[in-house]
Amino acid sequence: MRIACLFNNDFEFVPGAGADAAAVRASAEAICQALRDAGHDSELVSLQGRDLVAVLGKLERDKPDLVFNLCESLCGVAVNEVAVPAVLDLFELRYTGSDASALALALNKPRSKDVLLGRGIATPPYRVLTNVADIERVSAEPLDYPWFMKLANEDASVGITEANVLADGAALATRAQQLLAEFNSPLIVERYVPGREVNVTLLGSGKHVRFLPLHEIDFGAMPAGRPHIVSYAAKWDEKHVDYEGTKPVPIKGASSALVAAIEETARAAWNAIGLRDYGRVDLRIDPAGVPWVIDVNPNCDISPDAGVARAAAAAGWSYPKLIGTIAELALQRYTAKGAA
Ligand SMILES: Nc1ncnc2c1ncn2[C@@H]1O[C@H](COP(=O)(O)OP(=O)(O)O)[C@@H](O)[C@H]1O
Ligand SMILES: [Mg+2]
Repeated sequence: MRIACLFNNDFEFVPGAGADAAAVRASAEAICQALRDAGHDSELVSLQGRDLVAVLGKLERDKPDLVFNLCESLCGVAVNEVAVPAVLDLFELRYTGSDASALALALNKPRSKDVLLGRGIATPPYRVLTNVADIERVSAEPLDYPWFMKLANEDASVGITEANVLADGAALATRAQQLLAEFNSPLIVERYVPGREVNVTLLGSGKHVRFLPLHEIDFGAMPAGRPHIVSYAAKWDEKHVDYEGTKPVPIKGASSALVAAIEETARAAWNAIGLRDYGRVDLRIDPAGVPWVIDVNPNCDISPDAGVARAAAAAGWSYPKLIGTIAELALQRYTAKGAA
């Protein structure tokens, strides 16, 4: 097929983002090349943001068979990614990944959790903190500490350090004041789930969803006393102790009952948020063996060095096979009669 790989080339809007810009472009190039290796005719198309309608209007005239949507922000703002599938639908262009409503819901952690809770899917209880009055009220509540704090509308572990594990109301108040001052955006606090952290990659849509081999975070090399969480440094600073201490590995010694419980919970979360084609659900397994959903990621990172590619490799798939499969799954969704 003829595929246009659409990616965000919007880093002039983000001061000092040179390295990120290079990584985003390198990832888009690797995906475009993988599609060629899988036998497709594919080319890169870059977007800054406000050129969205013009660029997609041009694509409408070029009529590719499929747009591979790699946009994670526009004009340097993550939530603007929601506009991309909306305008792709407007121009009736076929594209990979989730639609605007799923992306918007997943970007709003409190609202996603409401949907999960409404469907009876296990996700830790939470509170939202947007101002000093919220901090005063929630820090005075008799919560069953430890709880955990994160930004309500961010991903990639932005704002997460060991200080986000909260032992009591005083720690909650201190950290909330710091993060509100630093990021000026709403926070969410939720019950901390001790135990294993598992990443589940799902592919497909409707009733035809399959799992790639489960992975977990190996915290074995984490220095004693440091919490077992994937902090910002763990994701992005190769020299930090948290980086070594959070190695993703194939899940070890999990019973088939535990694997089934994890997969069932991940599938329920995928359906609740409305994901399709590819995505990743992150869970923590509490000491009683109950999986709790902590993060649902539509259009997650599919770079050659990221978790989805690792899971595909564990299934014996080459990188072109993974990327080619995502493209085919997306196209089938549009062409299969009666597809969800
Ligand atoms: N409720 C929780 N209990 C324990 N650890 C958590 C919890 N929520 C998040 N974490 C830790 O913080 C990391 C980042 O949180 P996550 O919700 O996945 O946000 P992001 O969207 O930034 O990836 C997780 O990988 C996990 O290690
Ligand atoms: Mg996450």
